[in-house]
Amino acid sequence: MLRTPSQHGLLDALRSARSGAAALPALAPESYARDHAAFEARSDQRALIAAHLAARLALRGDGPLAVLSVGCGDGSLDVRLAGPLTDVRPVRPVRYVGVDPYVGSTTAFTAAMAGLGRESLSTEVHVATFDDAPVTGLFDVVTFVHSMYYVPDVAATLRAAHNLLRPGGELIVLNAPRGALNLLVDVLAPPIQGHRQWFSDDIAAGLVEAGLQPEATTTLDARVDLDGASEEVLDFAVQARLTPELRPLVRAYLAAVSVPGLLSDDLRVPHPVDVYRVGRAVAGVS
Ligand SMILES: C[S@@+](CC[C@H](N)C(=O)[O-])C[C@H]1O[C@@H](n2cnc3c(N)ncnc32)[C@H](O)[C@@H]1O
Repeated sequence: MLRTPSQHGLLDALRSARSGAAALPALAPESYARDHAAFEARSDQRALIAAHLAARLALRGDGPLAVLSVGCGDGSLDVRLAGPLTDVRPVRPVRYVGVDPYVGSTTAFTAAMAGLGRESLSTEVHVATFDDAPVTGLFDVVTFVHSMYYVPDVAATLRAAHNLLRPGGELIVLNAPRGALNLLVDVLAPPIQGHRQWFSDDIAAGLVEAGLQPEATTTLDARVDLDGASEEVLDFAVQARLTPELRPLVRAYLAAVSVPGLLSDDLRVPHPVDVYRVGRAVAGVS
C-alpha cells in the first residue's frame, strides 16, 4: 500500500516518540469487552462478519451441529450465529462452546446464549486460553474471530484447532491484515507474552508451517469511523493505553489514513478483515 508522506511522517514520529521507551500498558481485561463493543459500534465490520459466518454455517445442512468459538469474547457475535442455527425445523441439537481467558467475557457469553431461550442449544464455556481449555469432542466448525493475534504460536494453534474438527468440518480464522490501522498496533501495542500481535501475513505463514491448505482468502472490506473517538476507543484501536502526548499524533495519523466511507463521503479508516478457511478431509475423499 502506498502511503502519503504525511501518513509516513506521522508513523515515523510515533516510532521516534516510542524509541527506547518502556512498553505502554496493555488494555485492562476488565474493560476490554466494553471498549471492544464501543469500537465495533463505529465500524460496519461486525455486520459483515456476522453475515459472512451465518452464510457459511447455513451451508452445513440441518443436522446436529457442534461449533467452537475460540476467543468468544462477550458472545455478541456468536449469539447472532447461534440464533439462526437453532431456528431450523425440525429442531436439531446445536452444541456451542466458547473459550476465552476473561471471566467477564465468558459470563456475558453464557448470558447472551441463555437469552436466546432455545432448548436445542447446549452452551459450554471455558475460562481459559485456547492452549489450556479442556475442550472435549469434535466440532463441525471452529472459529477464531479476531483472537489469533494473541496466541503464543500460530502454527501450533492452527494444527491443534484443525485436530478438533470432525471429518468434513471447517476451521475459519478471521484476522486483520497489517493495514493502515494495524501499523499503529505494531508501533504502539505492548508485546503479549513476548510476542507482537499476529496479523494476516502471520496466519498465512502459520498455515504453511502447519501443513494446512486454506481456500482462497476472502477479504471483508469494512470501514471504521474514528473521528472524535473516545480515549477508550482510541486505546482499543491501537491495543495499548496511550499517553496524553501520543493521542494527538495518533488522531492525526488516523485522519491522514482515512478514506471516504463506502456509503457516504464521511472519512473512515479502512478496517478490513481477512477470512481463512481450512476444511478437514472426509476419509476416502481428497
Ligand atoms: C477482539 S476480541 C474478539 C471477541 C469475539 N470473537 C468477537 O469477535 O466479538 C478477542 C478475544 O480473544 C480473547 N483471547 C485473547 N487471548 C486468547 C487466547 N490465547 N485464547 C483464546 N482467546 C483469547 C480475548 O479475551 C478477547 O475476548
